Amino acid sequence: MVKLNDDLQIPEIGFGAMIYSDNAAQRAVSLALKNGYRLIDTAETYGTEKGVGDAINNSGIPRDEIFLTTKIWPNARTNYKSTVSQFKKSLRRLQQDYVDLYLIHEPYGDINEEWRAMEDLQRDGLVKSIGVSNFNEENLTQLMTTAKVIPAVNQIESHPWYNENALVEYCLQRGIVPEAWSALAEGRNNIFNNPVLAAIANRHHKSVAQVILRWDVQRGLIPLAKSENESRINENQDIFDFELSNEEIEQINQMDTGVSLYPGY
Ligand SMILES: NC(=O)c1ccc[n+]([C@@H]2O[C@H](COP(=O)([O-])OP(=O)(O)OC[C@H]3O[C@@H](n4cnc5c(N)ncnc54)[C@H](OP(=O)(O)O)[C@@H]3O)[C@@H](O)[C@H]2O)c1
Repeated sequence: MVKLNDDLQIPEIGFGAMIYSDNAAQRAVSLALKNGYRLIDTAETYGTEKGVGDAINNSGIPRDEIFLTTKIWPNARTNYKSTVSQFKKSLRRLQQDYVDLYLIHEPYGDINEEWRAMEDLQRDGLVKSIGVSNFNEENLTQLMTTAKVIPAVNQIESHPWYNENALVEYCLQRGIVPEAWSALAEGRNNIFNNPVLAAIANRHHKSVAQVILRWDVQRGLIPLAKSENESRINENQDIFDFELSNEEIEQINQMDTGVSLYPGY
């Protein structure tokens, strides 16, 4: 477990529910929970909050053993009031009394007012931790001009093609835990057959996916990976019995292109 700056404990690896159908999300999250994942990441915009909530409620696992994240999808007009009302809709779709972590999905709209609403949701016990996603240094600085609570988490794009190590370091130095989204780069650019990663994987008798997720953990990030396949769901969390050397971490760092795979973020 990793301790957040508000003392809440968050699991070291998470399951991503960006699956775009409630039924598929319910099935995948049920498999993830059955196989030991306890951090589940969803969002208003994925359209899977109901499926995720069903999977949690039918899992037989006590609610306080599951760490549930969702996110508000802000637009240019999002303000204090709409943040509260969008959160309440998410909570209803999730069929929960609270969420563990609520994130501003992107730095859109009046982020200072959105954050003030998030602080009040946390004060009222509807959200345990609050954080942000896709915030760069400038966005974080702007937020901190009025914030009373420092974000617990910044969820960012981070994978071997675009590691964002400078932003990761910036967050870590301020007590903000970075999470890596699309930790496996969605398999793009033939990542699972990349020769640098494959050589490291062979040396450790692990898969390329496991090497990438381990590289995240050793850089101080919580990786979020998605799979709808039970054996890959298991494979992705089996990363705590080996260690990458500093040299191997540096080799993966060197794969960075400095260019997002998802322009627009
Ligand atoms: N905050 C944000 O703006 C943001 C943006 C994007 C994503 N996210 C979060 O990050 C999570 C993960 O990102 P993602 O869903 O985009 O993609 P991802 O986890 O980077 O990659 C998923 C892809 O990799 C495959 N895969 C998974 N494990 C594998 C393995 N061990 N070997 C080979 N292939 C494997 C999956 O196929 P199978 O399903 O067939 O295994 C799927 O095609 C999302 O679900 C979401 O929660 C957040």
